[in-house]
Amino acid sequence: MIFFVFKLKFVVVKEMTLSDTMRDSLNDQVKWELWSGYYYLSMATYFYEKNLPGFAKYWTVHAAEEQEHAMKIFKHIVERGGRVTLQTIEQPQTDWNSPLHVAEEVVEHERKVTGMINNLVTMAKSENDYATEVFLQWFIDEQVEEEEGAEKVYNQVKLAGDSGTALLMLDIEFAKKAAAKEED
Ligand SMILES: [Fe+2]
Ligand SMILES: [Fe+2]
Repeated sequence: MIFFVFKLKFVVVKEMTLSDTMRDSLNDQVKWELWSGYYYLSMATYFYEKNLPGFAKYWTVHAAEEQEHAMKIFKHIVERGGRVTLQTIEQPQTDWNSPLHVAEEVVEHERKVTGMINNLVTMAKSENDYATEVFLQWFIDEQVEEEEGAEKVYNQVKLAGDSGTALLMLDIEFAKKAAAKEED
């Protein structure tokens, strides 16, 4: 009887807990979301230096969104009984050749993040971790938006080309975009 109670308790606790592998991979993703924020904040500093405050504001707001993503995963780990282990966040790149270079790297980075999220979903599926699989659906949708947004920015900056006037006009548009994002 004692054995039975122990076994039952063990089974219940086990079901509520993330596997070690899933927990570690989600922990890595917390780091990558925070790093993405750091990366975008670094891009903001580049635009402030170039006297393009609209772009700078846009990337600052985006950086804050990445921090929110990290906290969503943080919360999921805790809710599933796991321990969050914060990792070292490496220094991001600090300089770029041009605004177009920045836009190019954002597209590339968001594609990489989509790959990371897809890998997490594959892992959740293989472990029959339905709660994590459903939780990650939000990130799948978010990455579709992130990639679409990044490509749009890239195309707009590409159209502006070397024209300072076009970039200044875009800068005003990005200041408005940033303000609208902040109100969301
Ligand atoms: Fe993110
Ligand atoms: Fe992102």
